[in-house]
Amino acid sequence: VLQIPRGTRDFASDEMQKRRFVEDKIRLTFKQFGYKEIQTPTFETLELFTAKSGETIIDELYSFKDKGGRDLALRPELTAPVIRFYVDKLQMESKPLKLFYFGNCFRYDRPQKGRYREFMQTGCELIGTDTPEATAELIALAYTILKNIGLKDLKLYIGNLSILSSIFKAFNISKEQQKNLTPLIDKSLFNDVVSCLKDFGFSEKDSQDFIEILQTSDVKKIIKFTEKDDQTKDEMMRLFQILELLKNIFEIKTCEIKLSIVRGLDYYKGVVFEIDAPRLGAEKQLCGGGAYELIPLFGGSKTPTSGFAIGFDRTILALEEEKYKFPEIKLDVYVIPINENLMIKSLEITQNLRKEGLSVDMDLLKRGISKSLKYASSINVEKIIIVGQKELDEDSVTFRDMKTGKQELVKINSLYEKIR
Ligand code: HAM
Repeated sequence: VLQIPRGTRDFASDEMQKRRFVEDKIRLTFKQFGYKEIQTPTFETLELFTAKSGETIIDELYSFKDKGGRDLALRPELTAPVIRFYVDKLQMESKPLKLFYFGNCFRYDRPQKGRYREFMQTGCELIGTDTPEATAELIALAYTILKNIGLKDLKLYIGNLSILSSIFKAFNISKEQQKNLTPLIDKSLFNDVVSCLKDFGFSEKDSQDFIEILQTSDVKKIIKFTEKDDQTKDEMMRLFQILELLKNIFEIKTCEIKLSIVRGLDYYKGVVFEIDAPRLGAEKQLCGGGAYELIPLFGGSKTPTSGFAIGFDRTILALEEEKYKFPEIKLDVYVIPINENLMIKSLEITQNLRKEGLSVDMDLLKRGISKSLKYASSINVEKIIIVGQKELDEDSVTFRDMKTGKQELVKINSLYEKIR
């Protein structure tokens, strides 16, 4: 048997039913917030991602040469593609531009539960504004999407890369040292951060103070580090003020400052945020995003941008973890001809009910009534139509309710009313 590539998955019909159900809900919420859907290609020029996506992502890229010798890559994320699209064709659109997307992404990651080599993201980019109100609405949108699909156990964290960088400066941590520290900070490995700082020659006290500030959720302590940068300070204070006010309206249960959010991609600056589903363990991060800068790098004129992406696969896992009840796939009706001569008449009845908008299937295997009934109960259909000659002579069929076992004669022209 040929094997499926490592880190990829097939989705059976029950899985697809769940995925489409969740996708529809997400799409609806984006639209309710005034976002419009776009699509970009699955592969792009390699350069698009090597420009500024960050080293970890580049290590994880699926890249290749095509037959014309061009360097291409399967997209590891959609922010760079969307900004390329914007710079190329959408710059003249009125602002703010609110764009959302669904797309499969590819990363040469080490596969495990919640981490795949092909996975799906849904996300959005907000182009043309970065007022604290806009940022607050963006964060609230990410939270609302996850809440609207039915997730209850969510944790929202907000960080700020400008403040983090002021803290690095205040502690005299060099750029080179920061490179070693950020992956540890990102994974909240604070003990390792302390030993790393000690290796660099920092005192025990400085190391402890440093990790304490990274772990505090006290805005006042954090704001001290922005003293020289009034704009960052004002914006961060305002953002928290707004979120505090919006918390009830958006039903945001918890929202904490977490300066240790560093994000894996190199294009971020300023406010960053993440939403976790704590129940998922190691791969618990459902959503990540923030303010970033890519437009000037791609040759466009500078305008503020921010956005986020939600890991679609992890979202489904989180729903399953919370024992969410997904609706089942169900046929409305199953039609059984009692003999071969009644196949065409049965097809006609089936098709007429489909035209009314019902989902209807019929026995195509000519397997007779008792086997057909067995099959119908195995696929959970509740309503059965049995087509027999005697009943047809009276323009009727036998209608059977599988739940109650009740059978009755129903005129063909009133079948739809009966089923509905
Ligand atoms: P990211 O944090 O790299 O951000 O990815 C967003 C989400 O995709 C993650 O939080 C996670 O749920 C999911 N994800 C990432 N890698 C995998 C994987 N190997 N398997 C399954 N799920 C995964 C971005 O991609 C940014 N483009 C987000 C953004 C949009 N920032 C601004 N705009």
